[in-house]
Amino acid sequence: MTRRLDATQSGIATAASILRAGGLVAFGTETVYGLGADASQPQAVARIFEAKNRPRFNPLISHFANAQAAFTQVVPNAMAHRLVQAFWPGPLTLILPRAPGASISDLAADGLASLAVRVPANATALALLEQAGRPIAAPSANRSGRISPVDAAHVLEELDGRIDAVLDSGPCTVGVESTVVDLTDPDTPTLLRPGGITLEELVAICPHISLPQTTSDAAPHSPGRMVSHYAPHLPVRLNALQARPDEALLAFGATRPTLAPLVWNLSSTGNLEEAAARLFTGLRTLDREGQTLGLRRIAVQPIPQHGLGRAIQDRLNRAAAPRPQDGTEDMAP
Ligand code: TXA
Ligand code: MG
Repeated sequence: MTRRLDATQSGIATAASILRAGGLVAFGTETVYGLGADASQPQAVARIFEAKNRPRFNPLISHFANAQAAFTQVVPNAMAHRLVQAFWPGPLTLILPRAPGASISDLAADGLASLAVRVPANATALALLEQAGRPIAAPSANRSGRISPVDAAHVLEELDGRIDAVLDSGPCTVGVESTVVDLTDPDTPTLLRPGGITLEELVAICPHISLPQTTSDAAPHSPGRMVSHYAPHLPVRLNALQARPDEALLAFGATRPTLAPLVWNLSSTGNLEEAAARLFTGLRTLDREGQTLGLRRIAVQPIPQHGLGRAIQDRLNRAAAPRPQDGTEDMAP
């Protein structure tokens, strides 16, 4: 049984004690729900992979209550300080060299010399991290390869019975995962994953940030970046101007007449923040209801490629990518 804990003082205290005892607690952040475990206990981290049914160990992001706590585990450089100043707490993950004597287990870092660190902007998550008093490893709280959860009900759809508790802090406000920036080589900061902090915002602080040319370029540096991910059961057709009668439609912008029997509009006013916040719930809803109606596919209208549009398109590309065997997210790039 998975306990549902309210975001009250006692709920947070219970969640923190489960984490300290080596248990698994899903908790809301501003991006998506994470599946948390104490990153310094290898057995606790191993349970994350087991619960998610991940085919192999991938490096995980460690979460902290503040930058000072994060910097006990990694060695920050000047750019890290500037980005942290600008964007923490918030949807930005930094990859930095692991500090000598860091308490993070090799399993959480997948044996790499670097570590992903982040301070989320969610009051309940920060209180939990503060009380846990340890680095908390947390990938998105979904079965491997599936759609990321943005509320507690989604977490239970994915992981009920496989984790100890979910701390319910309501729906996530950003709705796509954090932006991941690799700062291990201070001369070439590199964007590994577009996310909640936009490229425009990053460039304002870090003008020389480089973008990997293709997904497969990023893959060796960021081993968790599998091609197929965020996959609904129904196949996904991108850049659809119009849907067919046997398709569900994921729309963006002003509604036009459509043949689709099922429509989820990400934002009828064309607002990318609203679209990001509604993306994963939309995919999940169209997938479930589309299957019930016997539809064959999800058609997706074009998304503008600026601001959060890049992160949205990245998730949609992965949802549309050729699938590996069910239950795995591994996909040779
Ligand atoms: O918004 C988020 O980042 C959410 C919430 C829960 O915080 N977490 C999340 O974690 O998305 P996960 O495990 O799904 O994604 C971690 C990403 C992967 O793309 C992984 O490859 C990359 O970070 N990563 C982790 N450690 C790395 C490292 N040492 N070097 C390069 N990439 C790394
Ligand atoms: Mg994920």
